[in-house]
Amino acid sequence: MSRYTIADLAAWKKSGKKWAMLTAYESMTASIFDGAGIPLLLVGDSAGNNFLGEENTIPVTVDELIPLARAVVRGSEKALVVADLPFGSYEASPELALSTSIRFLKEAKAHAVKLEGGARVTEQIKTLVAAGIPVMGHLGMTPQSVNALGGFKVQGRNGDGVKILADAKAIQAAGCFAIVLELIPAELAAQITAELSIPTIGIGAGKDCDAQVLVWTDLMGITINPPKFARAYRNLRAEMTAAVSEWASDVESGTFPGEKETFH
Ligand code: KIV
Repeated sequence: MSRYTIADLAAWKKSGKKWAMLTAYESMTASIFDGAGIPLLLVGDSAGNNFLGEENTIPVTVDELIPLARAVVRGSEKALVVADLPFGSYEASPELALSTSIRFLKEAKAHAVKLEGGARVTEQIKTLVAAGIPVMGHLGMTPQSVNALGGFKVQGRNGDGVKILADAKAIQAAGCFAIVLELIPAELAAQITAELSIPTIGIGAGKDCDAQVLVWTDLMGITINPPKFARAYRNLRAEMTAAVSEWASDVESGTFPGEKETFH
């Protein structure tokens, strides 16, 4: 079975088809999301706070993310799997970005990588693209720079929008196949989307982006303090808590295992 490719995304931009990307950090959820038809799975460094128990994405390492990306590739059949380049694994030089990305493609069999930043990472993007590695960009509220940005705040207000638009054009020119726009005003995201020929993927960036991405634990109601831009479509935290409590009380009362779960 063949997977979606970056050529499909380019065609969807042209035809105006909107699509969804979702994070995944292991094979079970990857297979569920893939089976539900999600064309892009992102092994985000948001695994830091949503899977590894870290405060944010900054401590996540390449060695931690590669096994998660490998599991997502194994668990999916049709999705294009994008792996985040963790903080510290690409900024210093195009050569560093290339050696990190090659690890994600060879060891995890990821199909593309994502990195954060605008004009400052164009040389990295050009080097990766020249080596045949598809690159997704990420602008606006870039979580790896949370300390410099002074928290998780809307970016691009008060005139900074001009810089984000210029960065978007710079990384498109460098060769990105798509750009995540995180936590920026909807009007700015709409302008960037209209002025770029590659797809924009919004998260807290309004409805006019070409695509939308969410962290899966936010979508399923597992995250304890979800961001304002997320919508929980289920309350899996409550569902799972109820299921676990029910099972534990069946164990305590001696009704689990029953005859059906017993061998003779
Ligand atoms: O790491 C991540 O999950 C991301 C998304 C929020 C786009 O970068």
